[in-house]
Amino acid sequence: MSLARKDLITLEELSVEEVIQILDTAASFKEVVQRPIKKVPALRGKTVVNLFFEPSTRTRTSFELAAKRLSADVVNFTASDSSLVKGECLLDTIRNIEAMNVHTIIMRHAYSGSVELVARHSQAAVVNAGDGTHAHPTQGLLDMFTIRERKGDFKNLTVTLVGDITHSRVARSNIHGLRKLGATVRIVGPATLIPKSMARLGVEVYTRLDEAIRDADVINILRIQLERQDGQLFPSAREYANLYGVNARRLKLAKPDVLIMHPGPMNRGIEISPRVADGPHAVILDQVTNGVAVRMAVLYLLAGGESDETGD
Ligand code: CP
Repeated sequence: MSLARKDLITLEELSVEEVIQILDTAASFKEVVQRPIKKVPALRGKTVVNLFFEPSTRTRTSFELAAKRLSADVVNFTASDSSLVKGECLLDTIRNIEAMNVHTIIMRHAYSGSVELVARHSQAAVVNAGDGTHAHPTQGLLDMFTIRERKGDFKNLTVTLVGDITHSRVARSNIHGLRKLGATVRIVGPATLIPKSMARLGVEVYTRLDEAIRDADVINILRIQLERQDGQLFPSAREYANLYGVNARRLKLAKPDVLIMHPGPMNRGIEISPRVADGPHAVILDQVTNGVAVRMAVLYLLAGGESDETGD
């Protein structure tokens, strides 16, 4: 049981069978991480480097836990504490890390395409932990895993992605993964935060939130990414909250058993009201829990995993 590829850069490149294989393997690992001893020997003797050039709470911690639960040795690299600040270039940094016999590089970077560039120049398996606005494939997979746990199949599901679509690598990975498995995907936000090219990805495009969440099975609310915005793309946080904030009143328009998702970190009171974030429909912390099992599955399958090591 393995993925017939060296790297995981986007969900666009995966086949339906590969996506299902990752989700099924993650289900086995979810059982492992619920045991008193949450460890299997699948990656014993292998070294995984967490190479983060942008801040992270969930992704970095869960990749570290995932690798440790597979018995790998884990090294955490932080760009601001490295020789990059002395002027060493990205590819020289990678070559030096690889020279220490590293098997897997997990990388987050502010520039779209940077992780693919590193993968092309590296012998190690490279996993994209988020590159610019391009892709965040393991977030897409853990979102799909969380939806599948609660809803079963994707074919009759309507998933609405709300907010800052332009700057969201999470939106792009969700769209590619969910469309592949047959879900209907709606996107909604201010016109200034929805690129025209999105319609080509097979999504339904809305600018009115109430219309976009009517009868939705899942609402995935995206963070307003002020750090990536160049200029003022909406008048104020207050106006954004009025027009595009998901609150308890609006939630009544969706299906009664709607799931509320958010990749985090949340801007409470802007894109999501605290009542919705902490309410009975929210599966936001389940997404985080599932992230460990999904990342275990990705590391395991890229390393050419053997079925008796999933703990089955
Ligand atoms: N969802 C996500 O990528 O969160 P972090 O930025 O905290 O890793």
